[in-house]
Amino acid sequence: MGIYNIAVIKGDGIGPEVVESAMDVLTKIGDRYSHTFAFNESVCGGVAYDRYGEPLPKESLDICLMSDSVLLGAVGGYQYDNLPYEKRPERALLGVRKEMGLYANLRPAKLFSALSKVCPLKSPGDIDLLVVRELIGGIYFGEKGMRQGKYGSEGYDIMAYGELEVERIARVAFELAQKRRGKVSSIDKANVLKTSGLWRKCVHDVHSDYPDVQLEDVLVDNAAMQLVREPSQFDVIVTGNLFGDILSDLSAMCVGSIGILPSASINETTRGLYEPIHGSAPTIAGQNIANPIATILSAAMMLRYAFNLSDEADAIERAVDKTLNEGARTADLREEGLPVLGTKEMTEKIINNI
Ligand code: IPM
Ligand code: MG
Repeated sequence: MGIYNIAVIKGDGIGPEVVESAMDVLTKIGDRYSHTFAFNESVCGGVAYDRYGEPLPKESLDICLMSDSVLLGAVGGYQYDNLPYEKRPERALLGVRKEMGLYANLRPAKLFSALSKVCPLKSPGDIDLLVVRELIGGIYFGEKGMRQGKYGSEGYDIMAYGELEVERIARVAFELAQKRRGKVSSIDKANVLKTSGLWRKCVHDVHSDYPDVQLEDVLVDNAAMQLVREPSQFDVIVTGNLFGDILSDLSAMCVGSIGILPSASINETTRGLYEPIHGSAPTIAGQNIANPIATILSAAMMLRYAFNLSDEADAIERAVDKTLNEGARTADLREEGLPVLGTKEMTEKIINNI
């Protein structure tokens, strides 16, 4: 029995719909296992810009910093495309991650047996991989700007990684691999990038503390190809911010849809940020068609990692599995012969299976 204070960032686009689904699931878990989940809304992203003129107001950040953990939907929308960089909704997301010091982003991609027909790969095999993405460094956080260059006005973004940044994310990957199948694939572009040269050296240095884990280096272009060719060869993938962003979307599609991939952004404390890997999908917002599963599974990750409630997390994951096995599908998982459910109907079915 416990009381957990969860900061909730609904955000933009489909964010509110999928977060409400996850909150309903948590409430059901609370009833079933006698926990209290207290939700505290933190306004961030485009909605915060509309209301307060900035994407991450201090009060919103404080709510996150004072919570036991944060549940987030998505931020962003076309109407913000021309805003200056600091005002864009995405700044809120990057800002919360950075201010909370959440350097490790875990994105598990597992193929549900019910979704083998939805999976776009011909013979997917047994896909069960975990992308460990460095989240608060690299090119997303390096110096950036505009200047005059040889070809006229030019934009630049600096990619840099320091030893300690690489070492701490490598440790997360090796430790997770020890609890899984004992293999780490470190993804870089060491044939071209200096950052990757250092990345590779640091990952190998840390590896000497984990002799029971197998380590391989894979160049990022090859990794993209291998993910489509034979995704089941991967166990834990560890990589930098930019490559992790791209390869996690690719991994999501390998298991059928980006609508089902959850994520946990963590550090060595228990306070983390839990969000689907998909974005705000503005074109389908407000229509009750978004898939709530990625956010519901993110809530399960929160129970497991932040609150150490593994039975409760298992209960959610089992319910999702059962619901998919019963033939429930949202539009992104459309399958011939099966009816397409809305966000609310899918959520209801999952809740009933808990
Ligand atoms: C993600 C998203 C974000 C990122 C965007 C919205 C800034 O693509 O979580 O993968 O790049 O981290
Ligand atoms: Mg992304």
